[in-house]
Amino acid sequence: MEKIQKNLQKTYDLIANDFDAKRPKTWSQVDNFLKKNNFVGNNNVLMLDMFAGSGRHSFYKTTIISTDFSVNMLKLINKKKTNKEKAPFPVLCDSLNLPFIDNCFDCIVCIAGIHHFKLKKQRKQVLYEMKRVLKKGGKFIISTWSKNAFEKDTPKNYFCKWDKKHFRYYYLFEPKEFEELVESCGLKTERVFEDGIGKAKNIWIEGMKNKTTPTKFL
Ligand SMILES: C[S@@+](CC[C@H](N)C(=O)[O-])C[C@H]1O[C@@H](n2cnc3c(N)ncnc32)[C@H](O)[C@@H]1O
Repeated sequence: MEKIQKNLQKTYDLIANDFDAKRPKTWSQVDNFLKKNNFVGNNNVLMLDMFAGSGRHSFYKTTIISTDFSVNMLKLINKKKTNKEKAPFPVLCDSLNLPFIDNCFDCIVCIAGIHHFKLKKQRKQVLYEMKRVLKKGGKFIISTWSKNAFEKDTPKNYFCKWDKKHFRYYYLFEPKEFEELVESCGLKTERVFEDGIGKAKNIWIEGMKNKTTPTKFL
């Protein structure tokens, strides 16, 4: 794993409890996406929550696998589970190499993760992995921080302060750039919008894997 990612993994392990306390609510954009596609309360749906963190989007009423590379984040998901036999099922892994077979998920939720990669080829690899494990016709929602939420002269390679000791690397996307990247990896974008709390806007993309798209692209 390269240095930026190693630092991130360490940082998220260290701030996991504080992160969890400061992120109590799901994003309504995710709630709405899951509801309008009938993914909630549907026994036939298998959902992947990638970059799940402490699992705020892992507790919908459906079968959910939650992946993250921070073991302390995943421990928090386990702690919140009321029934150990039931979902969500936390899986410790790197989003660059998902340990799942091709075409297995009905839907993927990928919130605030892809901006943590410095290299474009890594950001593309995450999208290729999403495409690989998503069923044909499967749907996804993905979000990232938007450069528009920052002062114009903010560099695209940005280190964000969590507290006095901890910083996290962010790549700040422009909306068009993010949309083009997603499309370039063979995922179809259906809705692109900026939304968030106050000035802190995120870029959101809802989309699907075309029924005709080949799974292997690399
Ligand atoms: C900003 S948090 C978002 C958490 C969650 N999606 C939410 O909305 O609360 C980003 C998460 O991505 C995880 N992460 C970053 N890079 C990763 C990678 N290469 N593979 C797996 N997880 C990663 C971090 O450990 C962290 O939990």
